[in-house]
Amino acid sequence: MAAEVNTASAGAPVDGAKGPPALHVAIVMDGNGRWAKSRGLPRTLGHRAGVEALKRTVSAAPKLGIGRLTVFGFSTENWSRPATEVAELMALPKRYFETDIARLEREGVRVRVIGRREGLSAELVKIIEGAQARTAHNTVFNLDIAFNYGGQADIVEAARRFAKAVAAGEARPEDLNEVVFASHLATAGSPPPDVIIRPSGEQRLSNFLLWEAAYAEFVFQDVLWPDYGAEHLQAALAAYAARDRRYGAVVADDVLAAG
Ligand code: IPE
Ligand code: MG
Repeated sequence: MAAEVNTASAGAPVDGAKGPPALHVAIVMDGNGRWAKSRGLPRTLGHRAGVEALKRTVSAAPKLGIGRLTVFGFSTENWSRPATEVAELMALPKRYFETDIARLEREGVRVRVIGRREGLSAELVKIIEGAQARTAHNTVFNLDIAFNYGGQADIVEAARRFAKAVAAGEARPEDLNEVVFASHLATAGSPPPDVIIRPSGEQRLSNFLLWEAAYAEFVFQDVLWPDYGAEHLQAALAAYAARDRRYGAVVADDVLAAG
């Protein structure tokens, strides 16, 4: 059976709506630099155009049956880029929330920024916390922005948190299982992504959602992120809908055929 995609719930609150469950889509927003280079522009302008693509994608998503979006905005490895580029990337959440937080709040989007706060300026942390607080009551759509995030670092931190609980006598080693472990990750409270999209032609995970990606379907697209829009998201969901998700099991027909 092909994966279910709910395209019928356009505009309706996706959580609790009838029909197939709302999808969780994760996106590695990639290709800003190449987009800028192809136009003879500085990379920083590619990142600004990338924010516009994020706005388009967030507004298209609920109409396509998506209830949750997790996007990769800045990886713990991106600190190694030139200082001017890092500064531009650090300015992006402010740029995004300044223009869009009122709309996100109005449209029922709950915003969460996942990743380490260490290394971020006090001003940026305040902006992030403010955006989260302002939308904390929203339930229509979830937007998780991974910023200063690394999948391996997050797994290590989860292990450390559990180890501390054991050391404090609050948990026993045998209490640890996949569900408990996941509750210590930055993505706690979010179901795993159904599909992970990476535009720009690259075909790798780049330390994004390592644990959470266990059974995700991958869709790679040849468009650069600043050019991304509703039609690309729709095409990615069509590719996802044609996939056969088995979670390590076999489909019923094959069980019968095996006799
Ligand atoms: C994605 O675009 C933005 C971040 C990784 C922060 P890139 O900056 O990676 O663009 P390319 O890959 O150089 O084209
Ligand atoms: Mg890149």
